Amino acid sequence: MKKELNIHFEVYKNKSALTKIEKKLLKAASESRKKAYAPYSEFLVGCAILLENGEIIRGNNQENAAYPSGLCAERTALFWLSANYPNVKIKKIFIIGGPLHHTADQKAVPIPPCGSCRQSIMEYESKQLSPIEIYFASTQGKTCKCGSIRDLLPFSFDKNHL
Ligand code: THU
Repeated sequence: MKKELNIHFEVYKNKSALTKIEKKLLKAASESRKKAYAPYSEFLVGCAILLENGEIIRGNNQENAAYPSGLCAERTALFWLSANYPNVKIKKIFIIGGPLHHTADQKAVPIPPCGSCRQSIMEYESKQLSPIEIYFASTQGKTCKCGSIRDLLPFSFDKNHL
């Protein structure tokens, strides 16, 4: 039996198509991106997480001379958030990434979260029992939006399988 899975996402050509709060998150993520510690890859990622209480938490990638010891922007923010606000729900996560020195083409590509970050977002989404909206953007402002991590991580493994 063959089956099909559909995922849903929206694309915004540039930041003028974003709402006020989305623009605020883009700005926070961009500012945080500029503070990333990424001397090895020179690939800078920033993220901004909107909580249900209206607070915005920021994070960026943190690299290490022992490469695998580094951490992505999304998990830097998510783990800090969960450690400090364990019971506050996440509404939106906005990610922006790109090389420090980019060509015009690279500037236009929205940077999606890596597999490990998707798995971590899944953990918090299944814990809070409500969807987390995920935005990922290029440094030019072109943005993709998914309504839930389920669109980025179909066939996911979570606590319900244990
Ligand atoms: N990176 C992130 O921060 N988030 C992702 O989802 C993808 C990759 C970082 C990790 C590393 O510091 C650099 O980008 C290059 O892979």
